[in-house]
Amino acid sequence: MAVKLPVYLDNNATTRTDPRVVEAMLPYFSEDYGNPGSESHAFGWRAEEALEMAREQLAETLGAASSSEILFTSGATESNNLALQGVAEGLVKRGDHLITQETEHPSVLEVCSVLARKGRKVSVLPVDSQGLVDPQQLRETLSPRTVLVSLMAANNETGTLQPLAQLAQECREREVLFHCDAAQAAGKVPLDVDALGIDLLSVSAHKMYGPKGVGALVLGERLRPSSLVPLLFGGAQERGLRPGTVAVALAMGLARASQLCSEELEVESTRLRGLTEKLLERIQAGVAGVDLNGHPSQRLPGTLNLLFPGLDSGKLLLDLPGFALSSGSACSSGSGKASHVLTALGRSESQARASLRVGLGRFTTSEDVERVGEAILQAVDHLQ
Ligand SMILES: Cc1ncc(COP(=O)(O)O)c(C=O)c1O
Repeated sequence: MAVKLPVYLDNNATTRTDPRVVEAMLPYFSEDYGNPGSESHAFGWRAEEALEMAREQLAETLGAASSSEILFTSGATESNNLALQGVAEGLVKRGDHLITQETEHPSVLEVCSVLARKGRKVSVLPVDSQGLVDPQQLRETLSPRTVLVSLMAANNETGTLQPLAQLAQECREREVLFHCDAAQAAGKVPLDVDALGIDLLSVSAHKMYGPKGVGALVLGERLRPSSLVPLLFGGAQERGLRPGTVAVALAMGLARASQLCSEELEVESTRLRGLTEKLLERIQAGVAGVDLNGHPSQRLPGTLNLLFPGLDSGKLLLDLPGFALSSGSACSSGSGKASHVLTALGRSESQARASLRVGLGRFTTSEDVERVGEAILQAVDHLQ
C-alpha cells in the first residue's frame, strides 16, 4: 500500500511542476530533441526555434526588452554565482567593492565570502526588524570603488519584499550595477527588469511551478556584456557567457511556468494573501504570544513565518506529521544552526529555533489551510 503523503506546505523550498508545464516540455524530450547548435538539419533548427520562443516568452514575462537579455542556467544558484563572480572579475579594473545584505541566500553570501578571500572588499548591509534594507544606508555605503550591489527581491524564509525600485535607483544614480536574486519573487509578485532598473536578475523555475535544474540570468538593457566574464569555458552558447548545450525541454518549462504565473498572478496572489491572513488570524486567536517573522504587509502572498515563543520548532514539526512544513530554509535545515535570516532580524537563537515556515502555493486549498491551522493549535497545546 502506498504511504499517504503529507499535505505540501513547503512551497518556498520547491513547488510541484504544474501539469501544463510538463505538457509544454514533453515534445522536447521525444520529438524535437535536436541540439539547438546543430545548424545543418531540421532537428537543430526546430530546437533553436523553440529556444528562441522560450527566450521571448521569458523576456516578456520578466519585462526584459529583448530575448537576447536571457541567459539560461541550471538555476538561481548558478545565476547568482555568474552575476557576482562574473561582474567582480569583469570589472576588476574599475573597482574591488561589492555590497550585499545579511539575509541573502547562501548562493550570494558564500560567493561574497569567496570573493572577500580573493581580496575584494565586501560590505554586508544590516536589515531592520522586519527584514528591510535601508536605501539611505545603501547610498552611504556606495563608493567610487563599488562595482556591484546584490540584493534579493523576496526573502526565502520570511517572504519580506525589499523596496527594489528605490534600491536600484540608488545604484543607477551612482552608475553601479545592480543584481537581484528573484528566485522567490519571480512569478509571485510583479517584476519588470528594465522598468525597475535591474542590471542582472536571477530566477529559478522550480520555485514557480516549473522543473528543477533550470533558471536564468536576465541581463538588463544597460548591462554591457563585457562587464561579465563567464565561469565556464568551452562553447559559444548563451553568448559565450554560459557555455554548454542548453536543456531545451527545461528552458521551455521555465518559460511556460513563468508565463502561467504571470497570467494568473493577480488572482492567485489575492487568493494566497487571503489564505495566509486567515491562517495567521486563526493561529493568533488560539496561541498567545505568536509573532510574525518578517514584514507584516510587504511580504510574499503565500509565505508565513511564525514565532511560537518558548517552543522548539523541531518538536512542533514532529507533532505535525500530516504536513510538509519547515523550520527554515531547505538548504540550512538539518545543519543545526539557527537561521541567519531570523537572527539578522534581531531574533535570538532560541527564538529562531521556535519559528516555523508555512509556504502556501498554487495547489494549496482552503481546506488544507483549515486543517493545518487546527493541527498547529493542537500540536502547540500538546507541547505546552
Ligand atoms: C532566494 C533564493 N535564492 C537562490 C536559491 C537557489 O535556487 P536554485 O535551487 O534554483 O539553485 C533559492 C532556493 O532555495 C532561494 O530561495
